[in-house]
Amino acid sequence: MSDLIVLKESINELVKNVVEKHGASRAELIPILNEINRKMGYLPSYALEEVARLTQIPKSQVFSVATFYQMLSTDEMGEHVIRFCESAPCHVVGGRQVWQRLQEELHLQPGQTSPDGKWTLVTVSCLGVCGVGPVLIVDDDMYGNVTPDMIPEILARYA
Ligand code: FES
Repeated sequence: MSDLIVLKESINELVKNVVEKHGASRAELIPILNEINRKMGYLPSYALEEVARLTQIPKSQVFSVATFYQMLSTDEMGEHVIRFCESAPCHVVGGRQVWQRLQEELHLQPGQTSPDGKWTLVTVSCLGVCGVGPVLIVDDDMYGNVTPDMIPEILARYA
């Protein structure tokens, strides 16, 4: 059996379990995609096709939801995903310096994954917590009032 077939079988199993857990309804589409994204690190097109098949939601709708939300990704991501808020309120309270430090530490441009597959760095717009800007999220952990000096310490938690 080829690796590709094995991979598709395990994706089938994972998608089936997640859809069964949430229920195959349109209202659960975002939680379903979110959980698959968390488990797989991204949403491969094959998984989206399976979600469409099991929920009976048109493929075009599943794909448009998957590409609309910033917390979901159809691109393969690194082991840890850093989402950095680049909107103006965060930018003016020190976000630019934090961003510079992140780039110095990781040597990544927005949207890039490190060659070892450990980090993906992406920029996002306002996360709705501007009062504690600058803000970044690593995987499911949100950090507020971030200063450039905090960056090495934050990254070290995921080393
Ligand atoms: Fe960054 Fe709102 S501008 S959280």
